[in-house]
Amino acid sequence: MSYITDELRMVLRKQTKTIEIPGQMMHEVLAEAGAQRRTILRGGVGAAFAAAFGGSTLLAACGGGGVGDVAYGISFKGIPAVTGNTVVVPEGYTTSVLFSAGDAVLAGASGFTGTALDSVAMEKVSGGQHDGMIFFPLTGVDPNVGGLLAINHEAPDLYILEPNGLPTGVSQTSYITNANAETRKRLLSTVGVSVIEVMKSDGKWTVKKNSTFNKRYSGNTTFALKGPAAEAAGNTAIGTLNNCASGMTPWGTYLTCEETTDNYLDPSRPVNGYGWVVEIDPQGVFPPVKRTALGRFDHENTAYMLDSDNTLAIYMGDDSTPGCVYKFVATNKYNPTNRDANKDLLDTGKLYAAEFKADGTGVWKELTQGLNGLVAGAQDLGNVTQLAVGVTPTATIVNFNTQSNVLIETKAAARVAGATLMDRPEWVTVGPDRRIYCTFTNNGSRLRADAANPRINNTQGHIIRWTETASSAKATTFAWELFLQAGDSRLTASNQKGNIVGDSFTAPDGIDVDPKGRLWVQTDSSTSATTTNTFGNNAMYSVDPVTKKSTRFLTGPDGCEITGLTYTPDLKTFFVNIQHPTTWPGTVTGQGKSSTIVIQRTDGNTIGS
Ligand code: FEO
Ligand code: CA
Ligand code: CA
Repeated sequence: MSYITDELRMVLRKQTKTIEIPGQMMHEVLAEAGAQRRTILRGGVGAAFAAAFGGSTLLAACGGGGVGDVAYGISFKGIPAVTGNTVVVPEGYTTSVLFSAGDAVLAGASGFTGTALDSVAMEKVSGGQHDGMIFFPLTGVDPNVGGLLAINHEAPDLYILEPNGLPTGVSQTSYITNANAETRKRLLSTVGVSVIEVMKSDGKWTVKKNSTFNKRYSGNTTFALKGPAAEAAGNTAIGTLNNCASGMTPWGTYLTCEETTDNYLDPSRPVNGYGWVVEIDPQGVFPPVKRTALGRFDHENTAYMLDSDNTLAIYMGDDSTPGCVYKFVATNKYNPTNRDANKDLLDTGKLYAAEFKADGTGVWKELTQGLNGLVAGAQDLGNVTQLAVGVTPTATIVNFNTQSNVLIETKAAARVAGATLMDRPEWVTVGPDRRIYCTFTNNGSRLRADAANPRINNTQGHIIRWTETASSAKATTFAWELFLQAGDSRLTASNQKGNIVGDSFTAPDGIDVDPKGRLWVQTDSSTSATTTNTFGNNAMYSVDPVTKKSTRFLTGPDGCEITGLTYTPDLKTFFVNIQHPTTWPGTVTGQGKSSTIVIQRTDGNTIGS
């Protein structure tokens, strides 16, 4: 989560102070689409998607199977750690702002220009706090020059709601708590997802105004719940919120992740309607659905692996302090030739949580009622990692009488089943070589260390890499390694030094292995001078998966977090999100606006290589 989210969530948590933490997510794009993109797109949505990204084989590359063109090397000259109110990229690269909070989305909408919008107008413009996003090809369009961007909005950009700032003496918490119906509706409009059509013309990417694909899903949208816990959770829910990071399916739908298990913007709503993965079809063919089979927790993002027999696994992290790492394995096989057949694939399958053992092996603990202690009267010891060694935890009795109980109380189920409590799992990503990475952004209040979370008071975070047994989505065991520990050798405390080779960073959050096998890491650290004096502003790094050498590729403007990464199939355009900048990119109100930026090379070649 971001600090903005943490402040907002205090409404329900009744916290007395903000936790100073960083925090944000990831997705999966597909593999390199090869050369023939101009001849794609003949056979409808599914065929277009498969063609653009290579169909199941190719999807397998990005989530799974072999890959043709893995090349770890980078050619750009790393940039220094800097602060300042601009986006910095290496020489030979350009950036431009594509899509900001308050920009028009729906056909005919007027964007925010400094005057407050009413609830009807607000529902038609971009939400705030841009986070995870995925670029999708579009039938009939060369995906290297056009397509759809699905973008998460983790929280409101409050200055879009209140251009002159909150009234004197009104805190953010009291603003939300005491909001009237109109204000609450406006608030809820600024979260969720935007789908926008984008296109490149004369080298410049723009949002295609008035495209019929442009759409908003917000805190006011009605969603169906499906899967084993749907009925128990109420069958429908009003709104999606805290849409942190995201992922995709092989059939070209968007998985937006709710990083909250309550509706802190509208506490009158039943809590069981939130904390789910929500499947949205960016092309609008399938209705949006909250998928209960994937469990209810503070979802960060999703990443998938596909076996050669089309068995699909989806990996997920619970960004909690601490939280577990999860995997869902669908019972039915992905159908690469009939998109419609995959429509409800995510409703049936097994959910697992990871135990990282001290010997470098791991076990996927099945979260099925009746197994692994998931029975009536189960004893949940809670977040024991946050208790001093020697302090006896107090058990809470949890009754897992049904699979709905397991899926609604997934965090407790994972703990009871023996999964490892990790230092805030953020994004997970699956590389072309089928190795899986997860960022653990930090856990400054950890008091008990273990092999996979080796630092008490882990203020810097770490990254773990693992390989499934036989590299299979179906595996129930794996082998893991501590890929790196973040920090900087110049810091005084021994547990803050880390072991990064090259450009140091703290609080890893977004992570993505692109179709060439290149690993990208984005940070969400504190933006106070104490942190930026060492690390500069939040940034994006290339980390060589073999040598682990880190090279800084981009730094963001003051006050921001860097999150969200997606790209065109030719990897010549990267889209990245700048979340909660202080004043960048410059607005009529003088306040910052969360924005999606475009990164290209001046010579038009592939980014990074
Ligand atoms: Fe929304 Fe965990 O970042
Ligand atoms: Ca974060
Ligand atoms: Ca995140």
